[in-house]
Amino acid sequence: MNALNVAWEKNSKEAVGIKVKNQVVWITGASQGIGRCLALNLAKSGCKVAATSRTEDDLMSLQDRSKDLPGEIQSYPCDVTDEKNIEILIKSIETNLGPIDLAILNAGTYIRFGVDDFSVKAFRKQIEINTMGTVNCLAPVMHNMKARRNGHIVVVSSLSAYRGLPFASAYGASKAALTNMCESLKPELDNFKVKLSVVHPGFVDTPLTNQNDFKMPFLVDVEFASKRILAGINRGKFEIVFPSTFSLIMKLFRSLPYSLYFLVTKRMVKK
Ligand SMILES: NC(=O)c1ccc[n+]([C@@H]2O[C@H](COP(=O)([O-])OP(=O)(O)OC[C@H]3O[C@@H](n4cnc5c(N)ncnc54)[C@H](OP(=O)(O)O)[C@@H]3O)[C@@H](O)[C@H]2O)c1
Repeated sequence: MNALNVAWEKNSKEAVGIKVKNQVVWITGASQGIGRCLALNLAKSGCKVAATSRTEDDLMSLQDRSKDLPGEIQSYPCDVTDEKNIEILIKSIETNLGPIDLAILNAGTYIRFGVDDFSVKAFRKQIEINTMGTVNCLAPVMHNMKARRNGHIVVVSSLSAYRGLPFASAYGASKAALTNMCESLKPELDNFKVKLSVVHPGFVDTPLTNQNDFKMPFLVDVEFASKRILAGINRGKFEIVFPSTFSLIMKLFRSLPYSLYFLVTKRMVKK
């Protein structure tokens, strides 16, 4: 966890205003970064949060941190690539806490590489965790919510899903698949009264972006990201996108013809 998050966790007693009070929330990728901040904000609002990631120690510290909060956080360690165990995990969450009202599928990783160090292994890993890991979690949760005709699924994609960016061929592809999947599922899920949201964050200051050695434009902190995500959930928005200026720029990039778009991205790979 980065220093900024630690300082925020110690100092903030503020509960972010969310409507989802007293609900059962499952968050993947909850041990650090955006997921950890969301878990704490939801517990501050009185929710019962099931927190999943691979590192048990981080989840236990999160669980301890929730002891003086109105809601609670329970640790449910699991690797999202482990399809069979995800099903067992969901059964155990729903037995212990009750039916999942809100599932935030946020676990993800980023491995930066370009043409020189292009790696099949690193490509596969990002697809396995970001795309298939999310699909592994989505399938059983969606099935249960559909049967109950109630619930909200939030998939964390990225603004990099909008268009191919240099040094993010695998990451961008893994996230574009998620965005496209959500667009495809949304109309049918509406028929079953199950809400679906897709989150497109810009740069957020977390361990994932700490590896970047360039100045990240419009970088925001995890608290900002968490507030924007929870506000979007409250409003039942399909797309939750932030920060505003960066998302406008990326939307403009999305609409550029290739000839103009490559003029921009070529500048990013100049040696
Ligand atoms: N930070 C940004 O600028 C940014 C921008 C756009 C989108 N996003 C997306 O937002 C999400 C959260 O990112 P973040 O910045 O908060 O990243 P982070 O700080 O690196 O946290 C990632 C979380 O995912 C968990 N995780 C990774 N692989 C996992 C696996 N196989 N099974 C279960 N959990 C796993 C990690 O815990 P363990 O390692 O303990 O498993 C950790 O809790 C990601 O999907 C990321 O792609 C981030």
